[in-house]
Amino acid sequence: MASLKISAPSSQFAGARGRLDGASAAIRLWPTRRVAMPVRAGSYTDELVQTAKIVASPGRGILAIDESNATCGKRLDSIGLDNTETNRQAYRQLLLTTPGLGEYISGAILFEETLYQSTTDGKKFVDCLCDQNIVPGIKVDKGLVPLPGSNNESWCQGLDGLASRSAEYYKQGARFAKWRTVVSIPCGPSALAVKEAAWGLARYAAISQDNGLVPIVEPEILLDGDHSIDRTLEVAEKVWAEVFYYLAENNVVFEGILLKPSMVTPGAEHKEKASPETIAEYTLKMLNRRVPPAVPGIMFLSGGQSEVEATLNLNAMNQSPNPWHVSFSYARALQNSVLKTWKGLPENIEAAQKALLVRAKANSMAQLGRYSAEGEAEEAKTGMFQKGYTY
Ligand code: 13P
Repeated sequence: MASLKISAPSSQFAGARGRLDGASAAIRLWPTRRVAMPVRAGSYTDELVQTAKIVASPGRGILAIDESNATCGKRLDSIGLDNTETNRQAYRQLLLTTPGLGEYISGAILFEETLYQSTTDGKKFVDCLCDQNIVPGIKVDKGLVPLPGSNNESWCQGLDGLASRSAEYYKQGARFAKWRTVVSIPCGPSALAVKEAAWGLARYAAISQDNGLVPIVEPEILLDGDHSIDRTLEVAEKVWAEVFYYLAENNVVFEGILLKPSMVTPGAEHKEKASPETIAEYTLKMLNRRVPPAVPGIMFLSGGQSEVEATLNLNAMNQSPNPWHVSFSYARALQNSVLKTWKGLPENIEAAQKALLVRAKANSMAQLGRYSAEGEAEEAKTGMFQKGYTY
């Protein structure tokens, strides 16, 4: 397993922004072409590729704990705790100091507060992660707001000041970023909402790469609705086509990104549920049609599926080889049992950490296509879908 070093970009590449890459070389070969292709991410390219490879390493995936303070408050409220900084720190300390976590977890997405926070003993959370060869990541979007002129849809804010924020996050130890925007099937989706989502993701991805952060590209197609799985496939193909169109237009280096798609499933209120095999078939069909093999990793979100469902679906997708590392970047499907076991009590911390390892290991096995749901607790089979869920 490659190990993670958090250090400034190597001097070999420092100031190498003007270095020729393949695109510029093409200009030299065909000098009559008028349109110059810009060089991008010159100084960080090798490091981005290396970071993405570490996150997409076999048998590992991402622990997503980047919920905003408001959403973390909902998690804490579910076990009767107040939404204070101390309680958020206690919860994240429980998760990030779990012994043995690095065997199954390759990256952790943090909220800004956590990136700058330490354990109660004064050890930076970032250092806790690096000690376990887990890459620290950071949520950089600023959330969803109504999209004027659309069909009640939303757009994702956060591009203003993103370059300077990203440079600061890098200094603090983050090596990858996440930007989640959503597409709603019952609301259309309108051409405007899809274009805005795709363009925003591409601009964010380019800015992240310029600042040494591997962008996780996440256009979440919400589970809300009663549509069929065929309709989800159609929308997902449209969305990902547009996302890749704009990623290419922004000269994003595909080897240095990770994707966080929703699985292709029927809407949560559809009359029939789909089996893991059907979900795997549809999801892989969509990915094979839309995602170039240069992309190193597909890290799915769980989107309200139960813990076991999310693991079974991932396992089904890894029954035969894929061009990319197909893995997980779950929040709800990794945290639910942990919260219920912890209940906010110090005497339950060890048991809660064991519960996290159970889920992390199950998903690690699913990444390798070797998971069996035998012996899973009934509680882990409870769906977590909530209509209109905000993150
Ligand atoms: P869920 O796995 O809860 O859908 O999380 C989505 C997400 O974007 C977390 O980073």
